[in-house]
Amino acid sequence: MAAGPYSDVVMDHFMNPRNMGEIADANAVAEVGNPACGDVMKLFMKINSDGVIEDVKFKTFGCGAAIASSSMATELLKGRKVDDALQLTNDAIVKALNGLPPAKIHCSVMAEEAVEAALTNYCQRVGRGEEFVKELKSKIHRGVQNESAN
Ligand code: FES
Repeated sequence: MAAGPYSDVVMDHFMNPRNMGEIADANAVAEVGNPACGDVMKLFMKINSDGVIEDVKFKTFGCGAAIASSSMATELLKGRKVDDALQLTNDAIVKALNGLPPAKIHCSVMAEEAVEAALTNYCQRVGRGEEFVKELKSKIHRGVQNESAN
């Protein structure tokens, strides 16, 4: 049974968040805040030399929708390559959660921003630079997917 405006999937990820915690030797790290509500999400990833996300963990100090979005984002990120992971939009997170109430969509946006920030952090470490990430993201939001993926 869905509880109020939240889907069963949201409730499950809120009550039993996947991949909560930190990764000590992460090579992609970010902390993003939502100025509207003051909630904060930290994201840690371990990306191997083939550019594959081997492990991902999060710590979110925020509302239930933010925790569910963070948890779902980690599940959607595991095993993906960096270029592919950059295509993870908040829409995809919301879809995987079977929807969020309109007033809670911004909570999933925080998860997308954390993913983008952590992957930007990784790209900087390996010398690919912020511009690369920005260009790819703008293409994704214009619906030009996979063009830059390699
Ligand atoms: Fe702050 Fe949901 S209310 S992220």
